[in-house]
Amino acid sequence: MYRTHTCGELRLTHKGEQVTLAGWIQRIRNLGGMTFIDLRDRYGITQLTVNEDSPADVKAIAHTLGREFVIQVAGTVMERSSKNAKMPTGDIEIAISTCRILNAADTPPFTIEDESDGGEDLRARFRYLDLRRNPLQSALKLRHRMAQEVRKYLDSQHFLEIETPFLIKSTPEGARDFVVPSRMNQGEFYALPQSPQTFKQLLMVSGYDRYFQIVRCFRDEDLRADRQPEFTQIDCEMAFVEREDILQTFEELAKYLFKNVLDVEFTDAFPRMSYADAMQYYGSDKPDIRFDMRIAEVTDVVKGKNFAVFDDAEYTGGICVQNCAGYTRKQLDELTEWVKRPQVGAKGLVYIRWTDEGLKSSVDKFYTPDDLTRIAARHGAKQGDLILLLCGEKKKTQEALGTLRIEMGTRLGLRKSGTFAPLWVYDFPLLEWDNETQRFYAMHHPFTSPKPEDLEKFNSNDKNLLAQVNANAYDFVLNGTEIGGGSIRIHDSKVQQRMFEVLGFSPEEANYKFGFIINAFKYGAPPHGGIAFGFDRWCALFGGQETIRDFIAFPKNNAGRDVMLDAPSKIDEAQLKELGLKV
Ligand code: AMO
Repeated sequence: MYRTHTCGELRLTHKGEQVTLAGWIQRIRNLGGMTFIDLRDRYGITQLTVNEDSPADVKAIAHTLGREFVIQVAGTVMERSSKNAKMPTGDIEIAISTCRILNAADTPPFTIEDESDGGEDLRARFRYLDLRRNPLQSALKLRHRMAQEVRKYLDSQHFLEIETPFLIKSTPEGARDFVVPSRMNQGEFYALPQSPQTFKQLLMVSGYDRYFQIVRCFRDEDLRADRQPEFTQIDCEMAFVEREDILQTFEELAKYLFKNVLDVEFTDAFPRMSYADAMQYYGSDKPDIRFDMRIAEVTDVVKGKNFAVFDDAEYTGGICVQNCAGYTRKQLDELTEWVKRPQVGAKGLVYIRWTDEGLKSSVDKFYTPDDLTRIAARHGAKQGDLILLLCGEKKKTQEALGTLRIEMGTRLGLRKSGTFAPLWVYDFPLLEWDNETQRFYAMHHPFTSPKPEDLEKFNSNDKNLLAQVNANAYDFVLNGTEIGGGSIRIHDSKVQQRMFEVLGFSPEEANYKFGFIINAFKYGAPPHGGIAFGFDRWCALFGGQETIRDFIAFPKNNAGRDVMLDAPSKIDEAQLKELGLKV
Protein backbone atom coordinates (compact mmCIF):
# COMPACT_ATOMS: atom_id res chain seq x y z
CA MET A 1 0.00 0.00 0.00
CA TYR A 2 1.50 3.32 -1.01
CA ARG A 3 -0.30 5.34 1.63
CA THR A 4 -2.56 5.02 4.65
CA HIS A 5 -3.62 8.66 4.62
CA THR A 6 -3.48 11.69 2.36
CA CYS A 7 -1.33 14.74 3.09
CA GLY A 8 -4.36 16.76 4.11
CA GLU A 9 -5.88 14.35 6.51
CA LEU A 10 -3.96 14.00 9.75
CA ARG A 11 -4.94 15.87 12.91
CA LEU A 12 -4.07 15.77 16.62
CA THR A 13 -6.61 12.94 17.01
CA HIS A 14 -4.14 10.77 15.05
CA LYS A 15 -1.33 11.47 17.55
CA GLY A 16 0.83 8.38 18.15
CA GLU A 17 -0.44 6.50 15.06
CA GLN A 18 1.89 4.82 12.59
CA VAL A 19 1.10 6.20 9.13
CA THR A 20 2.41 5.99 5.58
CA LEU A 21 2.18 8.98 3.25
CA ALA A 22 3.19 9.51 -0.38
CA GLY A 23 3.50 12.75 -2.28
CA TRP A 24 5.69 15.49 -3.70
CA ILE A 25 8.23 17.50 -1.75
CA GLN A 26 7.06 21.08 -1.59
CA ARG A 27 9.92 22.45 0.49
CA ILE A 28 12.89 21.28 2.58
CA ARG A 29 14.39 23.27 5.44
CA ASN A 30 17.58 22.25 7.15
CA LEU A 31 17.94 23.76 10.62
CA GLY A 32 21.12 22.39 12.20
CA GLY A 33 20.31 18.86 13.26
CA MET A 34 16.67 19.08 12.15
CA THR A 35 15.26 18.70 8.66
CA PHE A 36 11.67 19.73 7.92
CA ILE A 37 10.06 18.46 4.76
CA ASP A 38 6.69 19.65 3.50
CA LEU A 39 5.01 16.77 1.69
CA ARG A 40 2.23 17.71 -0.71
CA ASP A 41 -0.56 15.95 -2.55
CA ARG A 42 -3.92 17.02 -3.90
CA TYR A 43 -5.38 17.12 -0.42
CA GLY A 44 -2.88 19.28 1.45
CA ILE A 45 0.54 19.49 2.99
CA THR A 46 1.94 17.54 5.95
CA GLN A 47 5.19 18.38 7.71
CA LEU A 48 7.74 15.57 8.04
CA THR A 49 10.69 15.70 10.42
CA VAL A 50 14.11 14.10 10.43
CA ASN A 51 16.27 14.68 13.52
CA GLU A 52 19.31 13.32 15.35
CA ASP A 53 17.30 10.34 16.56
CA SER A 54 16.04 9.34 13.09
CA PRO A 55 17.39 6.11 11.61
CA ALA A 56 20.76 6.53 9.87
CA ASP A 57 19.41 5.59 6.42
CA VAL A 58 16.63 8.15 6.72
CA LYS A 59 19.15 10.86 7.64
CA ALA A 60 21.27 9.83 4.66
CA ILE A 61 18.38 9.90 2.20
CA ALA A 62 17.15 13.23 3.56
CA HIS A 63 20.35 14.84 2.25
CA THR A 64 19.67 13.67 -1.29
CA LEU A 65 16.08 14.92 -1.56
CA GLY A 66 15.04 17.89 -3.64
CA ARG A 67 11.94 19.87 -4.52
CA GLU A 68 9.21 17.88 -6.33
CA PHE A 69 10.79 14.49 -5.61
CA VAL A 70 8.09 11.87 -5.20
CA ILE A 71 8.62 10.02 -1.93
CA GLN A 72 6.92 7.56 0.36
CA VAL A 73 7.48 7.85 4.09
CA ALA A 74 6.33 5.96 7.14
CA GLY A 75 6.43 7.36 10.64
CA THR A 76 4.65 8.39 13.80
CA VAL A 77 2.16 11.26 14.10
CA MET A 78 3.57 13.71 16.71
CA GLU A 79 2.13 16.86 18.25
CA ARG A 80 4.06 19.90 17.03
CA SER A 81 5.80 22.09 19.58
CA SER A 82 5.20 25.20 17.43
CA LYS A 83 1.83 24.82 15.75
CA ASN A 84 0.81 26.47 12.48
CA ALA A 85 -2.78 27.66 12.72
CA LYS A 86 -2.83 28.48 9.00
CA MET A 87 -2.50 24.83 7.95
CA PRO A 88 -5.27 22.27 8.53
CA THR A 89 -2.53 19.77 9.44
CA GLY A 90 -0.61 22.45 11.36
CA ASP A 91 -0.95 20.80 14.78
CA ILE A 92 0.98 17.68 13.85
CA GLU A 93 4.11 16.46 12.12
CA ILE A 94 5.41 13.02 11.17
CA ALA A 95 8.66 11.78 12.70
CA ILE A 96 9.73 9.58 9.81
CA SER A 97 11.17 6.11 10.30
CA THR A 98 11.49 5.08 6.65
CA CYS A 99 11.80 7.12 3.50
CA ARG A 100 11.75 5.77 -0.04
CA ILE A 101 12.35 7.83 -3.15
CA LEU A 102 9.67 6.78 -5.65
CA ASN A 103 10.99 9.13 -8.29
CA ALA A 104 13.60 11.87 -8.34
CA ALA A 105 12.75 15.20 -10.01
CA ASP A 106 14.73 17.78 -11.92
CA THR A 107 14.55 21.22 -10.37
CA PRO A 108 11.22 22.62 -11.63
CA PRO A 109 11.54 25.64 -13.96
CA PHE A 110 9.36 27.74 -11.64
CA THR A 111 8.19 27.53 -8.05
CA ILE A 112 5.13 25.38 -7.35
CA GLU A 113 3.61 27.97 -5.01
CA ASP A 114 0.31 29.84 -4.96
CA GLU A 115 2.18 32.85 -6.35
CA SER A 116 4.64 31.25 -8.75
CA ASP A 117 7.75 33.03 -10.02
CA GLY A 118 7.18 31.61 -13.51
CA GLY A 119 5.94 33.72 -16.43
CA GLU A 120 2.80 32.76 -18.30
CA ASP A 121 4.55 31.23 -21.28
CA LEU A 122 6.92 29.16 -19.17
CA ARG A 123 4.09 27.86 -17.05
CA ALA A 124 2.08 27.00 -20.17
CA ARG A 125 4.98 24.95 -21.55
CA PHE A 126 5.10 23.02 -18.28
CA ARG A 127 1.35 22.95 -17.78
CA TYR A 128 1.53 19.62 -15.89
CA LEU A 129 3.67 21.38 -13.26
CA ASP A 130 1.51 24.48 -13.19
CA LEU A 131 -1.48 22.22 -12.55
CA ARG A 132 0.17 21.16 -9.29
CA ARG A 133 -0.39 24.68 -7.91
CA ASN A 134 -3.31 25.37 -5.58
CA PRO A 135 -5.10 28.06 -7.64
CA LEU A 136 -5.32 25.68 -10.62
CA GLN A 137 -6.34 22.75 -8.47
CA SER A 138 -9.14 24.85 -6.95
CA ALA A 139 -10.26 25.93 -10.41
CA LEU A 140 -10.50 22.36 -11.69
CA LYS A 141 -12.24 21.21 -8.52
CA LEU A 142 -14.81 23.96 -9.02
CA ARG A 143 -15.28 22.86 -12.62
CA HIS A 144 -15.80 19.27 -11.50
CA ARG A 145 -18.36 20.39 -8.89
CA MET A 146 -20.21 22.43 -11.51
CA ALA A 147 -20.36 19.51 -13.94
CA GLN A 148 -21.69 17.16 -11.24
CA GLU A 149 -24.34 19.64 -10.12
CA VAL A 150 -25.43 20.38 -13.69
CA ARG A 151 -25.94 16.66 -14.31
CA LYS A 152 -27.73 16.19 -11.00
CA TYR A 153 -30.14 19.04 -11.66
CA LEU A 154 -30.90 18.29 -15.30
CA ASP A 155 -31.32 14.58 -14.56
CA SER A 156 -33.83 15.49 -11.85
CA GLN A 157 -35.74 17.44 -14.51
CA HIS A 158 -35.83 14.41 -16.86
CA PHE A 159 -33.23 15.68 -19.31
CA LEU A 160 -31.40 12.90 -21.19
CA GLU A 161 -27.66 13.24 -21.72
CA ILE A 162 -27.04 12.26 -25.33
CA GLU A 163 -23.75 12.49 -27.20
CA THR A 164 -23.52 13.84 -30.72
CA PRO A 165 -20.71 13.40 -33.25
CA PHE A 166 -17.60 15.52 -33.67
CA LEU A 167 -16.90 14.66 -37.29
CA ILE A 168 -19.76 16.46 -38.97
CA LYS A 169 -20.74 18.89 -41.67
CA SER A 170 -20.39 22.60 -41.01
CA THR A 171 -22.93 24.14 -38.57
CA PRO A 172 -22.95 27.90 -38.86
CA GLU A 173 -22.59 29.70 -35.52
CA GLY A 174 -20.84 32.70 -36.94
CA ALA A 175 -17.24 31.53 -36.61
CA ARG A 176 -14.96 29.64 -38.99
CA ASP A 177 -14.93 25.87 -38.89
CA PHE A 178 -12.01 23.65 -38.01
CA VAL A 179 -11.93 21.02 -40.71
CA VAL A 180 -10.64 17.46 -40.82
CA PRO A 181 -9.61 15.89 -44.13
CA SER A 182 -11.13 12.55 -44.95
CA ARG A 183 -8.73 9.78 -46.05
CA MET A 184 -11.50 7.54 -47.33
CA ASN A 185 -13.20 10.33 -49.26
CA GLN A 186 -10.27 12.26 -50.64
CA GLY A 187 -10.87 15.91 -51.34
CA GLU A 188 -13.68 15.96 -48.80
CA PHE A 189 -13.65 17.30 -45.30
CA TYR A 190 -15.48 16.93 -42.04
CA ALA A 191 -16.06 20.02 -39.96
CA LEU A 192 -15.77 19.94 -36.17
CA PRO A 193 -18.99 21.19 -34.58
CA GLN A 194 -19.15 24.85 -33.57
CA SER A 195 -22.01 23.52 -31.44
CA PRO A 196 -24.33 20.49 -31.65
CA GLN A 197 -27.13 22.83 -32.78
CA THR A 198 -28.58 20.82 -35.64
CA PHE A 199 -28.21 17.49 -33.82
CA LYS A 200 -30.11 18.65 -30.77
CA GLN A 201 -32.89 19.89 -33.01
CA LEU A 202 -32.98 16.54 -34.82
CA LEU A 203 -33.23 14.85 -31.40
CA MET A 204 -36.37 16.90 -30.80
CA VAL A 205 -37.76 15.67 -34.12
CA SER A 206 -36.92 12.16 -32.85
CA GLY A 207 -39.00 12.74 -29.73
CA TYR A 208 -36.34 13.04 -26.98
CA ASP A 209 -38.07 16.08 -25.63
CA ARG A 210 -35.44 17.12 -23.05
CA TYR A 211 -31.80 16.79 -24.08
CA PHE A 212 -28.55 18.02 -22.62
CA GLN A 213 -24.87 17.47 -23.11
CA ILE A 214 -21.71 18.88 -21.57
CA VAL A 215 -19.95 19.06 -24.84
CA ARG A 216 -16.83 20.33 -26.56
CA CYS A 217 -17.33 22.90 -29.32
CA PHE A 218 -14.75 24.10 -31.83
CA ARG A 219 -14.55 27.58 -33.33
CA ASP A 220 -11.78 29.07 -35.36
CA GLU A 221 -12.14 32.68 -34.24
CA ASP A 222 -10.00 35.42 -32.75
CA LEU A 223 -9.18 34.58 -29.18
CA ARG A 224 -9.74 36.67 -26.09
CA ALA A 225 -9.66 36.18 -22.34
CA ASP A 226 -13.06 34.52 -22.43
CA ARG A 227 -12.66 32.63 -25.71
CA GLN A 228 -10.86 29.43 -26.55
CA PRO A 229 -10.82 27.63 -29.92
CA GLU A 230 -12.18 24.55 -28.18
CA PHE A 231 -14.46 25.18 -25.28
CA THR A 232 -17.28 23.45 -23.48
CA GLN A 233 -21.01 24.11 -23.53
CA ILE A 234 -23.84 22.92 -21.36
CA ASP A 235 -26.01 22.39 -24.39
CA CYS A 236 -29.76 21.96 -23.87
CA GLU A 237 -32.91 21.61 -25.93
CA MET A 238 -36.58 21.09 -25.10
CA ALA A 239 -39.67 20.31 -27.19
CA PHE A 240 -43.18 21.69 -26.70
CA VAL A 241 -41.91 24.84 -25.05
CA GLU A 242 -42.23 28.57 -25.34
CA ARG A 243 -39.63 31.12 -24.31
CA GLU A 244 -41.07 31.33 -20.82
CA ASP A 245 -40.62 27.57 -20.23
CA ILE A 246 -36.97 27.80 -21.23
CA LEU A 247 -36.24 30.88 -19.14
CA GLN A 248 -37.85 29.36 -16.07
CA THR A 249 -36.20 25.95 -16.43
CA PHE A 250 -32.74 27.42 -16.81
CA GLU A 251 -33.19 30.15 -14.26
CA GLU A 252 -33.83 27.28 -11.86
CA LEU A 253 -30.66 25.57 -13.05
CA ALA A 254 -28.71 28.79 -12.44
CA LYS A 255 -30.20 29.22 -8.98
CA TYR A 256 -29.44 25.58 -8.18
CA LEU A 257 -25.79 26.07 -9.20
CA PHE A 258 -25.49 29.32 -7.23
CA LYS A 259 -26.85 27.54 -4.17
CA ASN A 260 -25.02 24.23 -4.45
CA VAL A 261 -21.66 25.42 -5.72
CA LEU A 262 -21.31 28.85 -4.10
CA ASP A 263 -23.94 28.79 -1.38
CA VAL A 264 -25.44 31.98 -2.80
CA GLU A 265 -29.22 32.16 -2.59
CA PHE A 266 -31.42 34.01 -5.11
CA THR A 267 -35.00 34.26 -3.95
CA ASP A 268 -36.26 36.77 -6.53
CA ALA A 269 -36.67 36.17 -10.24
CA PHE A 270 -33.68 37.29 -12.32
CA PRO A 271 -34.19 40.67 -13.96
CA ARG A 272 -35.00 40.77 -17.67
CA MET A 273 -34.24 43.42 -20.25
CA SER A 274 -34.97 43.74 -23.95
CA TYR A 275 -32.03 44.05 -26.31
CA ALA A 276 -33.26 47.52 -27.27
CA ASP A 277 -33.19 48.69 -23.64
CA ALA A 278 -29.83 47.05 -23.04
CA MET A 279 -28.36 49.01 -25.95
CA GLN A 280 -30.10 52.26 -25.01
CA TYR A 281 -29.23 52.27 -21.33
CA TYR A 282 -26.06 50.20 -21.13
CA GLY A 283 -24.58 50.38 -24.65
CA SER A 284 -24.14 46.62 -24.60
CA ASP A 285 -26.14 43.46 -25.22
CA LYS A 286 -24.59 42.06 -22.04
CA PRO A 287 -24.91 44.78 -19.43
CA ASP A 288 -23.05 44.50 -16.15
CA ILE A 289 -25.84 45.54 -13.79
CA ARG A 290 -23.79 45.27 -10.62
CA PHE A 291 -23.75 49.06 -10.88
CA ASP A 292 -26.14 51.62 -12.33
CA MET A 293 -24.48 54.48 -14.28
CA ARG A 294 -27.02 54.29 -17.09
CA ILE A 295 -26.57 56.02 -20.41
CA ALA A 296 -28.82 59.01 -21.08
CA GLU A 297 -29.47 60.45 -24.53
CA VAL A 298 -29.24 64.23 -24.88
CA THR A 299 -29.27 64.63 -28.68
CA ASP A 300 -32.32 66.93 -28.60
CA VAL A 301 -30.86 69.14 -25.86
CA VAL A 302 -27.45 69.69 -27.43
CA LYS A 303 -28.43 70.19 -31.07
CA GLY A 304 -28.88 73.64 -32.60
CA LYS A 305 -26.55 75.55 -30.28
CA ASN A 306 -23.81 76.09 -32.86
CA PHE A 307 -21.52 73.41 -31.47
CA ALA A 308 -20.79 71.74 -34.82
CA VAL A 309 -19.60 68.45 -33.32
CA PHE A 310 -22.94 67.79 -31.64
CA ASP A 311 -24.95 69.44 -34.42
CA ASP A 312 -23.52 67.06 -37.01
CA ALA A 313 -23.89 63.94 -34.89
CA GLU A 314 -26.78 61.51 -35.21
CA TYR A 315 -26.66 60.87 -31.48
CA THR A 316 -25.23 62.40 -28.31
CA GLY A 317 -25.41 60.64 -24.98
CA GLY A 318 -23.55 60.37 -21.75
CA ILE A 319 -23.00 58.73 -18.43
CA CYS A 320 -22.93 60.29 -15.00
CA VAL A 321 -19.97 59.26 -12.87
CA GLN A 322 -20.88 59.91 -9.27
CA ASN A 323 -18.63 61.98 -7.03
CA CYS A 324 -15.99 62.50 -9.68
CA ALA A 325 -16.42 66.25 -10.33
CA GLY A 326 -13.00 66.63 -8.72
CA TYR A 327 -11.26 64.96 -11.68
CA THR A 328 -8.23 67.00 -12.62
CA ARG A 329 -7.50 68.34 -16.07
CA LYS A 330 -4.84 65.66 -16.39
CA GLN A 331 -7.26 62.87 -15.51
CA LEU A 332 -9.81 64.19 -18.00
CA ASP A 333 -7.15 64.45 -20.73
CA GLU A 334 -6.16 60.87 -20.01
CA LEU A 335 -9.79 59.80 -20.24
CA THR A 336 -10.15 61.66 -23.55
CA GLU A 337 -7.17 59.75 -24.92
CA TRP A 338 -8.67 56.56 -23.54
CA VAL A 339 -11.96 56.94 -25.42
CA LYS A 340 -10.03 57.61 -28.64
CA ARG A 341 -8.42 54.16 -28.52
CA PRO A 342 -9.57 52.00 -31.43
CA GLN A 343 -11.24 49.55 -29.01
CA VAL A 344 -13.55 52.38 -27.88
CA GLY A 345 -13.59 54.36 -31.11
CA ALA A 346 -14.88 57.76 -29.94
CA LYS A 347 -13.56 60.92 -31.59
CA GLY A 348 -13.47 62.94 -28.41
CA LEU A 349 -15.00 63.50 -25.02
CA VAL A 350 -17.04 66.37 -23.61
CA TYR A 351 -17.32 66.66 -19.86
CA ILE A 352 -19.48 68.54 -17.43
CA ARG A 353 -18.36 68.85 -13.82
CA TRP A 354 -20.82 69.81 -11.14
CA THR A 355 -18.57 71.56 -8.65
CA ASP A 356 -19.30 73.94 -5.73
CA GLU A 357 -19.33 76.69 -8.35
CA GLY A 358 -22.04 74.98 -10.41
CA LEU A 359 -21.91 73.19 -13.74
CA LYS A 360 -18.66 73.65 -15.66
CA SER A 361 -18.16 72.06 -19.05
CA SER A 362 -15.53 71.82 -21.74
CA VAL A 363 -18.04 73.41 -24.14
CA ASP A 364 -19.24 76.30 -21.97
CA LYS A 365 -19.10 78.73 -24.84
CA PHE A 366 -21.92 76.95 -26.66
CA TYR A 367 -24.22 76.07 -23.81
CA THR A 368 -26.04 78.19 -21.27
CA PRO A 369 -26.24 77.14 -17.60
CA ASP A 370 -29.82 76.21 -18.42
CA ASP A 371 -28.74 73.77 -21.15
CA LEU A 372 -26.22 72.20 -18.79
CA THR A 373 -28.86 71.87 -16.10
CA ARG A 374 -31.11 70.03 -18.54
CA ILE A 375 -28.29 67.64 -19.47
CA ALA A 376 -27.53 67.09 -15.79
CA ALA A 377 -31.20 66.39 -15.08
CA ARG A 378 -31.34 63.78 -17.86
CA HIS A 379 -28.50 61.99 -16.11
CA GLY A 380 -29.99 62.32 -12.64
CA ALA A 381 -26.74 64.06 -11.68
CA LYS A 382 -26.13 65.86 -8.41
CA GLN A 383 -23.48 68.22 -7.13
CA GLY A 384 -20.11 66.47 -7.07
CA ASP A 385 -20.81 64.37 -10.16
CA LEU A 386 -19.03 64.23 -13.49
CA ILE A 387 -20.91 63.80 -16.77
CA LEU A 388 -19.07 62.36 -19.76
CA LEU A 389 -20.61 62.86 -23.21
CA LEU A 390 -19.83 61.14 -26.52
CA CYS A 391 -21.42 61.67 -29.91
CA GLY A 392 -21.54 60.13 -33.37
CA GLU A 393 -23.41 57.39 -35.18
CA LYS A 394 -26.07 56.06 -32.80
CA LYS A 395 -25.20 52.39 -32.30
CA LYS A 396 -21.44 52.98 -32.33
CA THR A 397 -21.73 55.79 -29.80
CA GLN A 398 -23.96 53.76 -27.52
CA GLU A 399 -21.41 50.98 -27.64
CA ALA A 400 -18.55 53.37 -26.93
CA LEU A 401 -20.50 54.73 -23.96
CA GLY A 402 -21.05 51.15 -22.85
CA THR A 403 -17.32 50.51 -22.96
CA LEU A 404 -16.62 53.77 -21.10
CA ARG A 405 -19.24 52.85 -18.51
CA ILE A 406 -17.54 49.50 -17.84
CA GLU A 407 -14.16 51.22 -17.62
CA MET A 408 -15.42 53.80 -15.10
CA GLY A 409 -17.17 51.02 -13.16
CA THR A 410 -13.89 49.14 -12.98
CA ARG A 411 -11.87 52.22 -12.02
CA LEU A 412 -14.30 53.08 -9.25
CA GLY A 413 -14.34 49.50 -7.92
CA LEU A 414 -18.04 49.04 -8.69
CA ARG A 415 -17.56 45.66 -10.36
CA LYS A 416 -16.91 43.67 -7.23
CA SER A 417 -16.05 40.00 -7.62
CA GLY A 418 -18.14 37.89 -5.31
CA THR A 419 -21.20 40.00 -6.20
CA PHE A 420 -23.43 38.36 -8.79
CA ALA A 421 -25.88 40.15 -11.04
CA PRO A 422 -27.63 37.70 -13.39
CA LEU A 423 -29.79 39.04 -16.19
CA TRP A 424 -31.84 37.76 -19.12
CA VAL A 425 -31.63 39.79 -22.31
CA TYR A 426 -34.31 39.01 -24.90
CA ASP A 427 -35.77 40.10 -28.27
CA PHE A 428 -32.57 40.39 -30.22
CA PRO A 429 -32.75 41.44 -33.86
CA LEU A 430 -33.00 38.36 -36.06
CA LEU A 431 -30.66 39.66 -38.75
CA GLU A 432 -27.61 41.84 -39.04
CA TRP A 433 -26.73 43.57 -42.30
CA ASP A 434 -23.10 43.37 -43.33
CA ASN A 435 -22.01 46.21 -45.58
CA GLU A 436 -18.87 44.49 -46.76
CA THR A 437 -20.55 41.37 -48.13
CA GLN A 438 -23.86 43.18 -48.76
CA ARG A 439 -25.97 40.49 -47.12
CA PHE A 440 -27.78 39.65 -43.91
CA TYR A 441 -26.28 37.39 -41.28
CA ALA A 442 -28.26 35.61 -38.58
CA MET A 443 -27.49 37.39 -35.32
CA HIS A 444 -27.83 34.17 -33.32
CA HIS A 445 -27.92 31.37 -35.90
CA PRO A 446 -30.11 30.50 -38.90
CA PHE A 447 -32.34 28.15 -36.89
CA THR A 448 -33.68 30.90 -34.64
CA SER A 449 -37.30 31.77 -35.27
CA PRO A 450 -38.53 35.26 -36.01
CA LYS A 451 -41.11 36.52 -33.53
CA PRO A 452 -44.57 35.54 -34.81
CA GLU A 453 -45.69 39.17 -34.92
CA ASP A 454 -42.79 39.96 -37.27
CA LEU A 455 -43.52 37.22 -39.81
CA GLU A 456 -44.94 39.65 -42.33
CA LYS A 457 -41.78 41.75 -42.26
CA PHE A 458 -39.75 38.52 -42.45
CA ASN A 459 -41.53 37.56 -45.65
CA SER A 460 -41.07 40.96 -47.28
CA ASN A 461 -38.11 41.74 -49.48
CA ASP A 462 -37.62 45.22 -48.05
CA LYS A 463 -34.19 45.41 -46.44
CA ASN A 464 -35.36 47.97 -43.89
CA LEU A 465 -38.30 45.84 -42.81
CA LEU A 466 -36.13 42.73 -42.58
CA ALA A 467 -33.69 44.61 -40.37
CA GLN A 468 -36.56 45.31 -37.95
CA VAL A 469 -37.52 41.66 -37.46
CA ASN A 470 -36.99 40.52 -33.90
CA ALA A 471 -35.86 37.02 -33.02
CA ASN A 472 -37.33 34.84 -30.34
CA ALA A 473 -33.86 34.69 -28.82
CA TYR A 474 -32.43 35.28 -25.36
CA ASP A 475 -29.08 35.47 -23.61
CA PHE A 476 -28.15 34.73 -20.04
CA VAL A 477 -25.76 37.40 -18.78
CA LEU A 478 -23.78 37.37 -15.56
CA ASN A 479 -21.75 40.39 -14.43
CA GLY A 480 -21.40 41.71 -17.97
CA THR A 481 -20.40 38.38 -19.50
CA GLU A 482 -22.58 36.44 -21.92
CA ILE A 483 -22.81 33.06 -20.25
CA GLY A 484 -25.51 31.53 -22.40
CA GLY A 485 -27.62 32.07 -25.45
CA GLY A 486 -30.52 30.34 -27.09
CA SER A 487 -33.76 30.70 -28.94
CA ILE A 488 -37.08 29.22 -29.89
CA ARG A 489 -36.37 27.49 -33.18
CA ILE A 490 -37.94 27.43 -36.56
CA HIS A 491 -39.75 24.09 -36.88
CA ASP A 492 -41.55 24.68 -40.17
CA SER A 493 -39.51 23.65 -43.20
CA LYS A 494 -40.94 26.52 -45.29
CA VAL A 495 -39.92 29.14 -42.72
CA GLN A 496 -36.50 27.49 -42.52
CA GLN A 497 -36.18 27.66 -46.31
CA ARG A 498 -37.21 31.31 -46.24
CA MET A 499 -34.52 31.96 -43.62
CA PHE A 500 -31.82 30.52 -45.87
CA GLU A 501 -33.20 32.64 -48.71
CA VAL A 502 -32.98 35.79 -46.57
CA LEU A 503 -29.40 34.84 -45.74
CA GLY A 504 -28.61 34.75 -49.42
CA PHE A 505 -28.39 31.00 -50.01
CA SER A 506 -29.74 29.72 -53.32
CA PRO A 507 -32.22 26.83 -52.88
CA GLU A 508 -29.49 24.47 -54.20
CA GLU A 509 -26.90 25.76 -51.74
CA ALA A 510 -29.35 25.58 -48.83
CA ASN A 511 -30.23 22.05 -49.82
CA TYR A 512 -26.58 21.00 -50.16
CA LYS A 513 -25.67 22.38 -46.77
CA PHE A 514 -28.85 21.93 -44.76
CA GLY A 515 -31.07 19.57 -46.71
CA PHE A 516 -31.05 17.10 -43.82
CA ILE A 517 -32.69 19.54 -41.43
CA ILE A 518 -35.12 21.04 -43.94
CA ASN A 519 -36.22 17.47 -44.72
CA ALA A 520 -36.43 16.45 -41.08
CA PHE A 521 -38.86 19.29 -40.48
CA LYS A 522 -41.21 17.67 -43.01
CA TYR A 523 -41.67 14.62 -40.78
CA GLY A 524 -43.41 15.99 -37.74
CA ALA A 525 -41.06 18.44 -36.03
CA PRO A 526 -42.45 19.60 -32.68
CA PRO A 527 -42.17 23.23 -31.62
CA HIS A 528 -38.88 23.40 -29.76
CA GLY A 529 -36.23 25.67 -28.33
CA GLY A 530 -33.15 25.61 -26.19
CA ILE A 531 -30.07 27.28 -24.88
CA ALA A 532 -26.35 26.63 -24.49
CA PHE A 533 -24.18 27.92 -21.68
CA GLY A 534 -20.46 28.54 -21.93
CA PHE A 535 -19.35 26.11 -19.27
CA ASP A 536 -15.78 27.46 -19.03
CA ARG A 537 -17.07 31.02 -18.67
CA TRP A 538 -19.56 30.06 -16.01
CA CYS A 539 -16.86 28.25 -14.03
CA ALA A 540 -14.47 31.20 -14.34
CA LEU A 541 -17.11 33.66 -13.13
CA PHE A 542 -17.97 31.46 -10.18
CA GLY A 543 -14.25 31.27 -9.48
CA GLY A 544 -14.01 35.07 -9.55
CA GLN A 545 -11.83 35.22 -12.69
CA GLU A 546 -12.25 36.93 -16.05
CA THR A 547 -10.08 34.52 -18.03
CA ILE A 548 -11.28 31.02 -18.68
CA ARG A 549 -7.85 29.54 -19.32
CA ASP A 550 -7.22 28.31 -15.81
CA PHE A 551 -10.55 26.55 -15.67
CA ILE A 552 -9.45 24.35 -18.57
CA ALA A 553 -6.82 21.72 -17.78
CA PHE A 554 -4.93 22.06 -21.07
CA PRO A 555 -5.88 25.33 -22.79
CA LYS A 556 -4.48 27.03 -25.87
CA ASN A 557 -2.63 30.35 -25.78
CA ASN A 558 -3.84 33.56 -27.45
CA ALA A 559 -2.40 32.48 -30.76
CA GLY A 560 -4.42 29.25 -30.59
CA ARG A 561 -1.32 27.17 -29.83
CA ASP A 562 -0.81 24.45 -27.30
CA VAL A 563 2.74 25.41 -26.33
CA MET A 564 3.20 22.29 -24.24
CA LEU A 565 2.53 19.95 -27.18
CA ASP A 566 3.78 22.50 -29.69
CA ALA A 567 0.57 22.13 -31.69
CA PRO A 568 -0.54 22.78 -34.35
CA SER A 569 2.43 21.20 -36.12
CA LYS A 570 3.44 19.93 -39.52
CA ILE A 571 2.54 16.40 -40.58
CA ASP A 572 4.81 14.24 -42.69
CA GLU A 573 4.65 13.77 -46.46
CA ALA A 574 3.31 10.22 -46.22
CA GLN A 575 0.38 11.36 -44.08
CA LEU A 576 -0.38 14.20 -46.49
CA LYS A 577 -0.28 11.86 -49.45
CA GLU A 578 -2.63 9.41 -47.76
CA LEU A 579 -5.09 12.25 -47.27
CA GLY A 580 -4.67 13.45 -50.82
CA LEU A 581 -3.41 16.83 -49.61
CA LYS A 582 -0.68 19.16 -50.81
CA VAL A 583 0.60 22.02 -48.67
P1 AMO B 1 -23.64 30.64 -28.73
O1 AMO B 1 -22.84 30.73 -29.98
O2 AMO B 1 -24.23 31.89 -28.18
O3 AMO B 1 -24.89 29.67 -28.95
O4 AMO B 1 -22.77 29.92 -27.63
C1 AMO B 1 -23.28 29.66 -26.34
C2 AMO B 1 -22.30 30.10 -25.29
O5 AMO B 1 -21.04 29.48 -25.46
C3 AMO B 1 -20.02 30.33 -24.96
N1 AMO B 1 -18.99 30.50 -25.98
C4 AMO B 1 -17.66 30.38 -25.77
N2 AMO B 1 -16.96 30.12 -24.66
C5 AMO B 1 -15.63 30.04 -24.77
N3 AMO B 1 -14.94 30.20 -25.92
C6 AMO B 1 -15.60 30.46 -27.07
N4 AMO B 1 -14.91 30.60 -28.21
C7 AMO B 1 -17.03 30.57 -27.03
N5 AMO B 1 -17.98 30.82 -27.95
C8 AMO B 1 -19.16 30.78 -27.30
C9 AMO B 1 -20.66 31.64 -24.58
C10 AMO B 1 -21.99 31.57 -25.31
O6 AMO B 1 -22.98 32.30 -24.65
N6 AMO B 1 -26.06 26.60 -30.51
C11 AMO B 1 -26.21 27.87 -29.85
C12 AMO B 1 -27.01 27.77 -28.57
C13 AMO B 1 -28.49 27.61 -28.77
O7 AMO B 1 -29.05 28.33 -29.61
O8 AMO B 1 -29.07 26.76 -28.07
C14 AMO B 1 -24.84 28.44 -29.50
O9 AMO B 1 -23.83 27.77 -29.62
O10 AMO B 1 -20.86 31.66 -23.18
